[in-house]
Amino acid sequence: MKIYSREELNEYFLSLTFDDISLIPTEISGIKSRTEANTQTIFLERELALPVISSPMDTVTGIEMSNELDKLGCLGVLNRFDSSLEKLLSAEEGTEGVHAVSVGVNTEERIIEKLSSQGMIICIDTANANNTKVLSKCEEIKKKYNAKVIVGNIACGSTLRDLENSGADAVRIGIGGGSVCTTSIQTGIGIGQVSSILDVYFAKQKEGLKIELIADGGIKNPGDVAKALALGADAVMLGRMLAGTFEAPGEVIKYNDQLWKKYRGSASFGVKMKNEFIEGEETMIPYKGHVVNVINAISDGLRSAMSYMNSFNLDELKEKNTFAVLSNSSYLERLPKK
Ligand code: IMP
Repeated sequence: MKIYSREELNEYFLSLTFDDISLIPTEISGIKSRTEANTQTIFLERELALPVISSPMDTVTGIEMSNELDKLGCLGVLNRFDSSLEKLLSAEEGTEGVHAVSVGVNTEERIIEKLSSQGMIICIDTANANNTKVLSKCEEIKKKYNAKVIVGNIACGSTLRDLENSGADAVRIGIGGGSVCTTSIQTGIGIGQVSSILDVYFAKQKEGLKIELIADGGIKNPGDVAKALALGADAVMLGRMLAGTFEAPGEVIKYNDQLWKKYRGSASFGVKMKNEFIEGEETMIPYKGHVVNVINAISDGLRSAMSYMNSFNLDELKEKNTFAVLSNSSYLERLPKK
């Protein structure tokens, strides 16, 4: 069997995504129980119990989701499409758990000033970070305020130095991989998520950069979270996995004797509400109950992966460098059968 290192996976001739690879345990693990595996991390100088960040989408992160994720030791990035930001600015609801907010390139100066003065992480939420407008917005914010800035998204590492030079503290990696994203279909742009993460990871290593890496899009289960972190991401950003929960904005809908919630792309018609170029879909997903259940499942899955991989903490998981590339049949074999 060929065991691949990150370097070799990065040179694999086809672009890879999460279902194309798996982690291979190659050592006798010293971890007696998965509770010994520690998933804590420091992300943008904040302590997280689990490096999970919610997508700044209007069906994923409102104030309630941000507050709950904060309690669970994760990070919610408030969306910029509904009234959440206004509520936050007028402090109508409890805001103590909101540490990160998204803004657009045209968001008013006074809003950014207020958010920065409250110590918030600012996420410049765009489809393509590789744009002079995004870079100059980032530069402007970093020059004027003492705020941490997340930019995104990128598909490869070729511009990572430019992003870091503009002051960006973290970057969202992934174009075309989101579960309600139609970018690749509409434009032909995008790379498999594993190859995207690795390309950026190696650009960062090679150039000695500090920018923190967020694997964003296409993460479907706790195993994908473990893979993304083992590949070199500092944190994962989740849309669909957190959508459909009690804390996600939107109503629970009863249809065909089942409970559902809406989940839609930020560039979908439902968000844009005008006849612009659409790069996102709108769908219904089964209602999942409280988000704590999803977070606990991720935490359990990740700690179990760490136990297999003989990793007491996430730094140790990153040091492991043993992956398999799966054929389609190997992937199918891994799935439970009815
Ligand atoms: P998911 O976790 O696979 O559902 O992906 C969530 C990610 O999809 C978000 O964090 C964004 O990066 C991306 N995304 C959100 N809305 C859109 C859209 O309308 N078009 C393309 N990508 C989107």
